[in-house]
Amino acid sequence: MSKIRIAVVIGNPSAKSRTKVLAQAISARLADGLAGQLPVQIQTLEIANLAPALLTGGWPAELPADGAAAVRAIEAADLIVAVTPVYKGSYTGLFKHLFDLVSPDALVGRPVLLAANGGSDRHALVVDHQLRPLFSFFRALTVPSSVYAAESDFDGYTIRSPALQARIGEAAEQAVALIIQKAHAKHLLAA
Ligand SMILES: Cc1cc2nc3c(=O)[nH]c(=O)nc-3n(C[C@H](O)[C@H](O)[C@H](O)COP(=O)(O)O)c2cc1C
Repeated sequence: MSKIRIAVVIGNPSAKSRTKVLAQAISARLADGLAGQLPVQIQTLEIANLAPALLTGGWPAELPADGAAAVRAIEAADLIVAVTPVYKGSYTGLFKHLFDLVSPDALVGRPVLLAANGGSDRHALVVDHQLRPLFSFFRALTVPSSVYAAESDFDGYTIRSPALQARIGEAAEQAVALIIQKAHAKHLLAA
């Protein structure tokens, strides 16, 4: 059986990042949920590393190899995990720029788990008012439960909030169920 491909997009422009910690916690829960059920390959795409490659052009054909590979990984993923810090009440500009490079028809019906990390709880609806509409544009299948973290959910760069851990578990469980349903449907149709 071919591996389930998960693309984890981390929208933070700097390397030391709570958003990255959040993304890693979500990835770990997804890997646990799929363990023993389906083989999985998780690829992490960090804006912090990709920014120079992405900023060379507005069209995919203008990108250097690493930028083009990142766009291809998103377009080919069975599940996208979209995680961004909150900047000015929304996702970061570089996060949006990466998705600007994705073909408008590439993600139709594709499961996407949404997560954001802000300074406080005041912008918790950024997930539903900013991230979810972006993926509605792509006609993607967003996972119903999303994840929002605030700085108070962390102890430095470690997640300390049991409520946040529980929410990560809930969203990951729903994403795993979607992946398994799709894999079974594909298998039945192929049989
Ligand atoms: C340019 C900038 C804009 C920000 N705007 C917001 C905001 O509108 N709302 C919010 O809750 N936090 C905002 N923050 C705080 C970050 O979302 C918060 O510190 C987050 O934890 C940063 O994630 P990181 O550790 O991955 O860098 C902003 C931070 C920066 C640097």
